[in-house]
Amino acid sequence: SKKEEATIPEKIIVGTNAEFPPFEYVDDNKKIDGFDIAMMKEIAKRMDVKIEIKNMEFKSLIGSLESKTINAVAAGMTKDPERTEAVDFSDSYYTSSQVMIVKKDSKLKKMTDLKGKKVGVQEGTTGDKLATGENFGEKQKPVVKGVDVRRFPKGVNAVMDLKNGGVDAVVIDEKPAMEFVKNNKGLKIVRDKAAEEYYCIALPKGNEKLVKEINKQLKAMKEDGTLDKLKAKYIDK
Ligand code: ARG
Repeated sequence: SKKEEATIPEKIIVGTNAEFPPFEYVDDNKKIDGFDIAMMKEIAKRMDVKIEIKNMEFKSLIGSLESKTINAVAAGMTKDPERTEAVDFSDSYYTSSQVMIVKKDSKLKKMTDLKGKKVGVQEGTTGDKLATGENFGEKQKPVVKGVDVRRFPKGVNAVMDLKNGGVDAVVIDEKPAMEFVKNNKGLKIVRDKAAEEYYCIALPKGNEKLVKEINKQLKAMKEDGTLDKLKAKYIDK
């Protein structure tokens, strides 16, 4: 029944897409690590519940939450109106925004310069929505129109295509963009006014008890400096 569902699970089964450094990635030992993973492990520890991490395509995360294959998503996922119809979100734990990755000699300066250009994105992300001209954020204006959007399963696939002379730009979240540019010669980041995006943990729709508990742990981790410590370790290293 509905009542039984609205409880704290014995195990948090976290869906992620480990293609988004520094928030989630597969490390040299083939283990999934990153800020989101460390944060979820700490939350589970404080809640005294088990945790399991499931790696999947980004575009499958919301559906997996709805079909109960997982009961949480930690994937640098931005809270937006469309997703909020399907899932509940925790309070925000990180603020980000979209940037462009281009070749070093590119003249692209503004998001609106993307009009008529081939733009690579990770399928189903807010970068995809922005390039497609969707209005996904509270302060987001659908500034970009007429873009030839090329969708890739992973952000890094889009970056490789950019390097190989396929797309003209990649639209992606700032911190992963910085990691990709650091690891690939000949690329640079272009920042233009894009809406602030708030990363939140996505949870099954209607389990108020779970949302409350997760928010309680997030708040405590903000107040006692744990979240800042994890940010220093993984993001601002
Ligand atoms: N913040 C963006 C979004 O919510 C991108 C997230 C991509 N995350 C990932 N693990 N691949 O759509």
